[in-house]
Amino acid sequence: MISLNTDHLKGFVSAQELENIFPSVRLAHDNLHNGKGLGAEFTGWLDLPSRIPDTLIKEISSLAVEVHKNSDCIVSIGIGGSYLGIRATVEFLGGGKLPVYYAGHTISSDYLHRLLAQLKDKRPTVVVISKSGTTTEPAIAFRVIKKFLESKYQGEELKKRIICVTDEKKGALRKIADKAGYRSFIIPDDVGGRFSILTPVGLVPLALAGVDIQSLVDGARQAQKEYAVCDLDKNTCYRYAALRNILYAKGKKIEVLSSFYPEVFYVAEWFKQLFGESEGKQGKGIFPASLIMSTDLHSLGQWMQEAERTVFETFVQIDKPHHDVIIPQDKEDLDGFNYVAGKGFDFVNKKAYEATSAAHFEGGVPNMTITLCKADAMHLGHLYYFFEKACGISGYILGVNPFDQPGVEAYKKKMFALLK
Ligand code: PA5
Repeated sequence: MISLNTDHLKGFVSAQELENIFPSVRLAHDNLHNGKGLGAEFTGWLDLPSRIPDTLIKEISSLAVEVHKNSDCIVSIGIGGSYLGIRATVEFLGGGKLPVYYAGHTISSDYLHRLLAQLKDKRPTVVVISKSGTTTEPAIAFRVIKKFLESKYQGEELKKRIICVTDEKKGALRKIADKAGYRSFIIPDDVGGRFSILTPVGLVPLALAGVDIQSLVDGARQAQKEYAVCDLDKNTCYRYAALRNILYAKGKKIEVLSSFYPEVFYVAEWFKQLFGESEGKQGKGIFPASLIMSTDLHSLGQWMQEAERTVFETFVQIDKPHHDVIIPQDKEDLDGFNYVAGKGFDFVNKKAYEATSAAHFEGGVPNMTITLCKADAMHLGHLYYFFEKACGISGYILGVNPFDQPGVEAYKKKMFALLK
C-alpha cells in the first residue's frame, strides 16, 4: 500500500549503522508494546484501529446521514490534534459532501469576523472538539459561534446543530455538553491529541463532511498489522524511524517533508505537529519542516540545494493520481514546449520529483521517498498509522517521552497572566 525508497541515502547511512541501531529499535518496540516505556498511559493509539467498534462507525455514519439532510456546511472548532488531522484529511481527499469551515485554531479577530460573514446565510452543524475541554482558542471561538447559532435557531433545532467531542468526564466542554444536552462523543483517555485522528476527534467531523471513515479506519487497520513485526527489513515504518535517528545523530537536525502534491500540505502540517510535539524536548529533537513543490522549488529550493547541510528530506509521492491532464500541442510553439505535448502533467510532475530528489542528494541532502499507491481514504489511514508508529518508535530511540508536551504550557501560563 505504501513503500519506502532509500536509494538516496547511499553514502549517508550504511548497512552497519542500521544493524547497530537495531537493539534500540527492539527496545523501543518492546517498551511500546509491553506498555513499559515513557508515557505508556497514552499509547492507546497503538492498537486503536483494531479496537474501533463497528457500532461507533455506524452511530457516526447515521448521524452523518441526518446532518446531510439539514445542513449545508460543517464548522469544526479545535486546535492542534483537535484540528490538523481533520483538515489534512479533508484537503487530501478533496472534500466530501459538505464544505468544512474551521475555527478555534486562531485567535485572529479578522479571521473569525470573515467566517461569521461566510456563515451568515448557511445552515451549519458545528462540531466542537477539545480533549481537555479547557483550551482557550477553541473555547472562546465556540462562545462566539454558539451565540451566532442562537441568533438563527432555537430549542431542539439549535441543540441538534451542536456536537461535542471531548473527555468522558472531565473538562468544561463535558460540563457544557451535559448541561445543554448536546450530542457528544468521547475521546479515549489513553490517546493524546496528536494521535487522535482515528478517534471521534477525526471520525465525527470527517463523516459529517462526507469522508469515507470506514476506509480510513480499514487502511489504519492494515497498517497496524503490517507494522507489528520488529524487523528492519520487513517493517518499513521501523526502518524509517531508525534511519531518521541515524541521520539525526550525524548532524541532520532538520527533516523536511516534501511533496509535489498541494493536497499533502495539511498532511505535512499534521506530521509537523506529530513529530515536533513528540520529539522536541529535553534539548533534543529533529525539527520537522515541510515544502510543497513546485511552489517551494522556486523559493526554498535554493536553501535545500546549497544552505547548511543539516537537513534530510522525506518525499511523499502519489503513484496514481485520480486524474491526469494532457499538455496540448500548439501550432506555433512560441513557448517551445511542444516537446512535452501529448504528455500528462503527472508525467512531468514525476520527472520534477526525480530531478529534485537526485539534485538534493547530490547537493548533500540525504533523502527517502514514501510512495502511496493512491490518494484515497484507505491509503491516508494507512499513512497516519505509519507516521504515528514511526513517531512512537523514533521518540523512544531518541530517549524522550513522545506522548507528553510540557513545553506547550509555557506560553499558556504567560498568556493567562496577561489576560487575568
Ligand atoms: O497533541 C496534543 O495533545 C495537543 O496539541 C492538543 O491536541 C491541543 O493542545 C488541543 O488540545 P485539546 O484537544 O485539549 O483542546
